[in-house]
Amino acid sequence: MTRINLLLLTVACIVLAAIVPVHSQRPRNVEQQVNALLAKMTLAEKLGQLQQLDGEATGNFRPELLELARKGLLGSTLNVRGAQRTNQLQRVAMTESRLKIPLLFGFDVIHGYRTIFPIPVGEAASWDPMLAERSAAVAAQEANNAGLRWTFAPMVDIARDPRWGRITEGAGEDPFLGAAFAAARVRGFQGSDYSAADKVLACAKHWVAYGAAEGGRDYNTTDLSENSLREIYFPPFKAAVDAGVGTFMSSFNAINGVPASANAFTLTKVLREEWKFDGFVVSDYTSVRELINHGVAANEEQAAAAALNAGVDMEMVSRSYNQFGPRLLEQRQLSVATIDEAVRRILRIKFRLGLFDRPYTDEAREPQSLLRPDSLSLARQIAARSMVLLKNDRGLLPLHKNLKSIAVIGPLADDRRAPLGWWAGDGREENTITPLAGIKAKVGANSKVGYAKGADLKDDSTAGFAEAVALAKESDVAVVFVGESADIVGEAASRSSLDLPGRQLDLVKAIQATGKPTVVVLVNGRPLTIGWIVDNVPSILESWMGGTQSGHAIADILFGDVNPAGKLPVTFPRAVGQVPIYYNYMNTGRPPEAENRYTSKYVDVPWTPLFPFGFGLSYTTFKISNLQLSAPRIRASEKLIVRVDVENAGKRAGDEVVQLYIRDPVATMTRPVKELKGFQRVTLAAGEKRRIEFTLTREHLSFWNREMRFVAEPGEFRVMVGSNSRDLTEAKFELTER
Ligand code: NOJ
Repeated sequence: MTRINLLLLTVACIVLAAIVPVHSQRPRNVEQQVNALLAKMTLAEKLGQLQQLDGEATGNFRPELLELARKGLLGSTLNVRGAQRTNQLQRVAMTESRLKIPLLFGFDVIHGYRTIFPIPVGEAASWDPMLAERSAAVAAQEANNAGLRWTFAPMVDIARDPRWGRITEGAGEDPFLGAAFAAARVRGFQGSDYSAADKVLACAKHWVAYGAAEGGRDYNTTDLSENSLREIYFPPFKAAVDAGVGTFMSSFNAINGVPASANAFTLTKVLREEWKFDGFVVSDYTSVRELINHGVAANEEQAAAAALNAGVDMEMVSRSYNQFGPRLLEQRQLSVATIDEAVRRILRIKFRLGLFDRPYTDEAREPQSLLRPDSLSLARQIAARSMVLLKNDRGLLPLHKNLKSIAVIGPLADDRRAPLGWWAGDGREENTITPLAGIKAKVGANSKVGYAKGADLKDDSTAGFAEAVALAKESDVAVVFVGESADIVGEAASRSSLDLPGRQLDLVKAIQATGKPTVVVLVNGRPLTIGWIVDNVPSILESWMGGTQSGHAIADILFGDVNPAGKLPVTFPRAVGQVPIYYNYMNTGRPPEAENRYTSKYVDVPWTPLFPFGFGLSYTTFKISNLQLSAPRIRASEKLIVRVDVENAGKRAGDEVVQLYIRDPVATMTRPVKELKGFQRVTLAAGEKRRIEFTLTREHLSFWNREMRFVAEPGEFRVMVGSNSRDLTEAKFELTER
């Protein structure tokens, strides 16, 4: 190298060193950076990193948070949002605190930040995980620009009980479908590098079995075998880990007597030792302090020791780590190593997020990042692809766009709040397209669109019935929007009834009695017992709570611009007394037989569901046939290829979700009557036929046996393929050895 070059290189190095931020001058390796910082921290500063505190519902924060940030006694906040506010708080941490460790701003961005997408159980009805990845990516982009770096999502709890309001937040009852959506949502939020300017850190929650709350009563205890945990409740969490999720949230419930927020088996043995998760675990809201109510801690001091020792790294809202950490250390109830490890996990994620280098958010970008036209059109597309056509007996749907008059009826026809669901992020009612607005926009001047609310969601008044009936009578068709308000779904919204609240069913009956062609559109967050409607109304569309654009999406489906193809990710019961009812149940010694009293069923209601898991219709019809397996027998190390023809036998293009289930009929433990192990949503032109292929491997055939080993047992297996979990064609093969 010439002298000149050497000189230039030296100058370049000096300039570079001057402009690269302080923390980047530390060793490049994240672990070295973490340890170097940890070595400088006082105990109070370490405990500060473990503390997350709440801002205000409005997104603002209390002055106390500024003070704590200044002293280095705060690691993270929730609910504080907006680029300007997060910057203000961050500036204090970055310029006035001793070690300048950035704060991590978290928020419940569950199905959208400002552009709200369908509730997650609805989105799962698309059976198209790529859509969930794309909606999560939009949510991440909006959230990041609003100063957030962390979402408390995806919620990946398996839920088999629709009384539980939070069934709305997950992907339904099935671990395989749930795992696919969990991974997709993590990828959407985080991308391949969550330090990117349009990504956020994800959080798999609620670890674990929160969805198994007894009686469907939120926060209630659970009692589950390890087999159920590993086979039903763990898989979506494992999928999230495999997809690189950065954080977990420990749940409120107890599992077999040990609260999830003090559960060393789930938090340490499974998550850390088996799955090698190296991110951090945040508690749920005050779930550390709640260990006292659970009865495993006498006071907050014991609660802090129990949670931190079990593996909860960050405490949300309650402050027991901070208050009692020093004393617990003195008394040797906690070790320095345990505290250091929790701090290390949190700092590791902060470094990986690039927070030290880019702690602030560009305030100018926030407004233009929200509700972008491409985000809104994606929200409309996803909402439409999530809807499930439950019945269309007389081919009433799709409606003609040139009907003379349409009666739009019901308490949810023009409701701006319900479509946003319970966790509406920072969604605003003023941005919601209601069904009424969507229908009006669709038909324009072609049809007269009348509206009558008819009934209320909450009271028993029938005062509006007469107006609604009159409107139906003078119209060509009546479309009735009934379901649930946002406040009876989601957290702390368990129901003992799954009927339509208030007088909504009577309203439907009154409209149906006019003899006018009637369509019922459900706007709801959980399966409902709608037997009368199914028996009497010719067309029913499940629209879920479809988000900001749901009115447009409903109109797209009602008028046939989009052919519905969603399938239920959760079983619909006939009666609440059937709950829990799910497709992948274990057979009993006395499977139900209509003619035999002494079999497993009810005397007052059929044992079958109203709609099975995986069910959904289309405006076209599909045939699934010619099921073939690549071999009559395989070894566990080999793959089995399953091929089937799917044909669009109707006159319109459409999508079919082809579903593959297996059954292990004889094993050392009882096995489910069916287990989903593959699905594909395929688009076919009218008359088109395609051969599709699934691959089964040892993993698909394995289960946790009596010795808690994950094994595939030799013997016969059944493979079933079809359009839902009930209507299936079957083939068999043999697994010859492990
Ligand atoms: C309690 C909920 O259970 C959890 O899902 C949520 O993330 C936190 N509150 C924070 O809002």
